[in-house]
Order: sequence, then structure tokens, then C-alpha cells
Amino acid sequence: MSQPKTLNINGEAKPVDAPDNMPLLWVLRDILGMTGTKFGCGIAQCGACTVHVDGKPVRSCLLPVGAVGNRAITTIEGVGNTPAGAKVQKAWLDLEVIQCGYCQSGQIMSAAALLASTPKPDDSDIDAAMAGNICRCGTYVRIRAAIKRAASEA
Ligand code: FES
Ligand code: FES
Repeated sequence: MSQPKTLNINGEAKPVDAPDNMPLLWVLRDILGMTGTKFGCGIAQCGACTVHVDGKPVRSCLLPVGAVGNRAITTIEGVGNTPAGAKVQKAWLDLEVIQCGYCQSGQIMSAAALLASTPKPDDSDIDAAMAGNICRCGTYVRIRAAIKRAASEA
């Protein structure tokens, strides 16, 4: 049964009509047409669907939309408006991180959350923050370099 609610997405109030148990990823992609967030596994194992809820990275494929409430959702469409997200996206472009691109919005969301909470991460911080984001193209070396590049930006 659909249930009207208003989500706070990238600083905008978005009315949606969706069952409480629908995963947030479905709401973003299928109801709101925000297709930057990707479906990979659907079981919280790949990280492709990562968004921020109150600044924390979460797997939107398993998060029921009814559990989000008024908390602030940030997606790949809006993360460039945050200081950490802007640095991460610039570093990603400068170092040409992306190969096929499918995993990359999730990678960027996890990296941006890391830098927002830990502005100068060491390798173990990067390992811990990025371990849940899988890249079938194996761009891990460039991802790590780009996180360090972003962290070095004033
Ligand atoms: S689609 Fe959500 S973690 Fe893979
Ligand atoms: S760039 Fe292709 S899956 Fe990561």
C-alpha cells in the first residue's frame, strides 16, 4: 500500500507516495527518476547503491524508505554541493579514476563521507571506509590515490 511521505533529498523536500517497506533505492530510481544511484546486488554486498543519510554512508538497497523519516538524504546528484564531495569529484576527474563507471557513484559517496568525517585519512581509514564498495573493473589503486589527492586539497 502506498503511503505519502516527504523526503529531504539534497536539500529539497520531495513528496513521494511509496510503501514504507520499499527500499530507498527503488524510491530514488523508480519513483523520483534519480538514476545516479545504482543497483548492483540488492543485498548490501557491493556498495553501488550508497547514499548518505545525515552524512553517514548507507546502502539504500536495504534501507526501507519508511525508516528514513526527516533525515537528510544526499545522493550522487547532490554530493558535489558538499565541501568533501566537491573535492572528491574533482580528484576523481583529475586522476581519471573511472573505467566502466557502474560502481563509481557509490565509491564517490563512500569517499566523500570518509573525508567529511576524517579529513586526512590514512591507509587503514581508507581500507575501513571503502571495503564495502566493490569495483569489477579493479580501479582500487586510482580510487585510493584520488582520496589522498582530495584530502590534500586545502
Ligand atoms: S546494490 Fe546495495 S549494496 Fe549492492
Ligand atoms: S569502474 Fe567498472 S565496476 Fe568500477
